[in-house]
Amino acid sequence: MHHFRYTGQKLHCESVDLAAVAQLHGTPTYVYSAQTITDNYRRLAASLAGLDVQICYAMKANSNLAVLRLFSNLGAAFDLVSGGELRRVVAAGGDAGRSVFAGVGKTEAEIRLALQTGVFGFHVESEPELARINHVAGQLGRKAPIAIRINPDVDAKTHAKITTGKSENKFGIPLEHAAEAYAAAAKYPHLEIKGVQMHIGSQLTSAAPFVEAVAKVVPFALRLKQDYGITYFSVGGGIGIVYQDALASGDAGWWSAKSEGERPLTPEAYGAALAPLLAPLGLKILLEPGRFLVGNAGVLLSRVEYLKRGAARNFLVLDAAMNDLVRPAMYEAYHEVVPLLRDSARPALKADLVGPICESGDCFAKDRTLQTVGEGELVAFLSAGAYGYTMASRYNTRPMAAEVLVSGSRFELVNARENFDAMVSGEKIPGFLST
Ligand code: LLP
Repeated sequence: MHHFRYTGQKLHCESVDLAAVAQLHGTPTYVYSAQTITDNYRRLAASLAGLDVQICYAMKANSNLAVLRLFSNLGAAFDLVSGGELRRVVAAGGDAGRSVFAGVGKTEAEIRLALQTGVFGFHVESEPELARINHVAGQLGRKAPIAIRINPDVDAKTHAKITTGKSENKFGIPLEHAAEAYAAAAKYPHLEIKGVQMHIGSQLTSAAPFVEAVAKVVPFALRLKQDYGITYFSVGGGIGIVYQDALASGDAGWWSAKSEGERPLTPEAYGAALAPLLAPLGLKILLEPGRFLVGNAGVLLSRVEYLKRGAARNFLVLDAAMNDLVRPAMYEAYHEVVPLLRDSARPALKADLVGPICESGDCFAKDRTLQTVGEGELVAFLSAGAYGYTMASRYNTRPMAAEVLVSGSRFELVNARENFDAMVSGEKIPGFLST
């Protein structure tokens, strides 16, 4: 379920007319629905009720401070991957002490910051990282809580760039070497073995790969519980969402009948498949969902600059570009695009949806059919709440987009559109170039 739907002809987020948001704050602008995030969070938490579950929201999906505060208010902890993300958790008033620090390349400075702030666990990806965390913890006179990420060598059957649990990926330690890694960890005086972790990929649309991976790791987790007294098992994130026909998925329930090929995994199916495997462990279960919690809770509003009609094809040139939403260019990802003003009397338009950036890759969709829209009219990219703003750049010296949070009939700017001065504030012309 999400809370984007037409009321009459106008697309609304909860009770807010999205055209009013665009009018006030301009475009391109990301708009997030607090109610959708809340519903997603509660629904996932309920799907594993009965287990001792800690949801660590994977904030790389959307790390706006207001979104983080909302999660914190809901009781979430965080899955973070950099010193910057840790500082965001603190700035948003989140609970770093229940949060986990992941990533293959933690620097000494990041490890130091995490130890000083206090985190629930470091999710360790290699033996050299164990040595480094031990070293920094020793300098600070602390013990670092750790869990080792196991690479279960399972095919998540998702896009190659977001598959992480195969042995050829850079992530984690293979199951067959994991016992040695834990034995090594146990010898370090400044490490405390707290758990075990896995994550096999993102945008999974079936429970089967999760079941296969969890089933592989469970016997090992039991051994770790006996040998080292671990207290938690993090099963990572990865639950997929609807991208095709995403608006209908909000109206009609969880998924659209039309998008059979992309039928997502429901949290209930996920919970029902995993609970029987996880319950006998008697461990705290950490979930690290990102996309599932925020993906369908956000849209990107954009204005049509030109409708360029050509002999071979039409181009709808938008004011949003690949720098604002890179997923189509980077992963050939599909995002539904709908008009803010729905008018069934208008003829259909078949066009390539493109941005103004000077390269052919700045294309959101080829041969997309939508209601005819013209210059100055507004459209929304759906399912843009995850990996939208957080992956944006300033390519072509385009400012970072604005972000707005909606709750009921209220909406507020939660990140102002970047201005030129802020964009160049760190740059300077060196003395040797001045004449
Ligand atoms: N835990 C770990 C260790 C991860 O690496 C990730 C995502 C997550 C949790 C959250 O995964 P999620 O629940 O969001 O699937 N930029 C790509 C997705 C990259 C995911 C990276 N890791 C995209 O736009 O599709």
